[in-house]
Amino acid sequence: MLRYFRPNITASAGYVPGEQPEDGGVIKLNTNENPYPPSPKVRAALRKAIDASLRLYPESRSDTLRTIAGSIYGVKPANIVAGNGSDELLSMLLRCFVGPHDRVAFPVPTYSLYDTLVAIQDGLPAPVDFPPDFSLPSALAEQSAALTFLCNPNAPSGTLVSLQQIEKLARSLPGVLVIDEAYVDFAGNEGVSSIPLIQRLPNLVVLRTFSKSFSLAGMRIGLAFASEHIISGMMKVKDSYNINRLSLIAATAALQDLPWMTRNARRIQRTRKRLTTGLVRVGYDVYPSHANFVLARKSGRNQKGVYDELKRRKILVRYFDIVGLQDCLRITVGTNSEVQTLLREMSTIES
Ligand SMILES: Cc1ncc(COP(=O)(O)O)c(C=O)c1O
Repeated sequence: MLRYFRPNITASAGYVPGEQPEDGGVIKLNTNENPYPPSPKVRAALRKAIDASLRLYPESRSDTLRTIAGSIYGVKPANIVAGNGSDELLSMLLRCFVGPHDRVAFPVPTYSLYDTLVAIQDGLPAPVDFPPDFSLPSALAEQSAALTFLCNPNAPSGTLVSLQQIEKLARSLPGVLVIDEAYVDFAGNEGVSSIPLIQRLPNLVVLRTFSKSFSLAGMRIGLAFASEHIISGMMKVKDSYNINRLSLIAATAALQDLPWMTRNARRIQRTRKRLTTGLVRVGYDVYPSHANFVLARKSGRNQKGVYDELKRRKILVRYFDIVGLQDCLRITVGTNSEVQTLLREMSTIES
């Protein structure tokens, strides 16, 4: 009977069991969460929302959130759909655009969920290797793909592709281009968003999440920006009430306190600089990161031992057992003191 069980076909999205401790003195630098809490205004709005109204279903089309997001990002609410995290938006996009044997292209290494979702949909993954400097591979445009993903800034490298290149890529593709901007708020002035491009590129979708810069990973909220035509299609495939009442309140309040988010993003940029300098000092090459993590490489030296030893010392970082990344560690930018502890420990570990 379980022969027909579809999850047999695929690996999971890559979260490692036992690596999500709530506290216990662990320094958690493995899943790119924000080390700072969400805005006090978000927490106050949530407390206020815990009342009898929880018996009611939430807004099914997230209209209040979409209206506020539209005014902040300069688009119409009809250009936005909200998701239960950007992971749900990715899944909606696969269901909208990919049937059996349709090709889905993405440069690799990148966010591992793209590959998993393609497998679930019986699509054909078309991974294209990034060059060593993680610049945009020209072969990405030549994959005849129904859907093309570009994570910008990319995970796990933290590297950035320019808007000019994105526009050129979108115009040259036969299908839809999805720019995953989960980390763009950490890019500062260089990381100008692709959202305005949706006005002139009918095949462009831009994804945002509240999990990283807004410190709301636990609430599960993401936004997709695209033409009204694409958004109305995504609305058709989403669950009726895909975002719960409290998450909608949290996201709306977070957008109403942008200075809190930008202040934390700037703090993270400053700590990223310290982390990068410290890692270089202990012998790593670090890619120029525009995200809230860095990718550190010790060329030709497998980093599993360093990862294990850090874990033993209660510091979690990310090791990828993937060809081409085994000599790397991906490290989330934590607080200054977490980063200081990490660097101190790393300086005493043989790598
Ligand atoms: C590139 C990228 N996209 C999307 C996500 C998922 O974000 P969310 O928490 O909004 O589902 C992540 C999470 O780590 C990510 O790294």
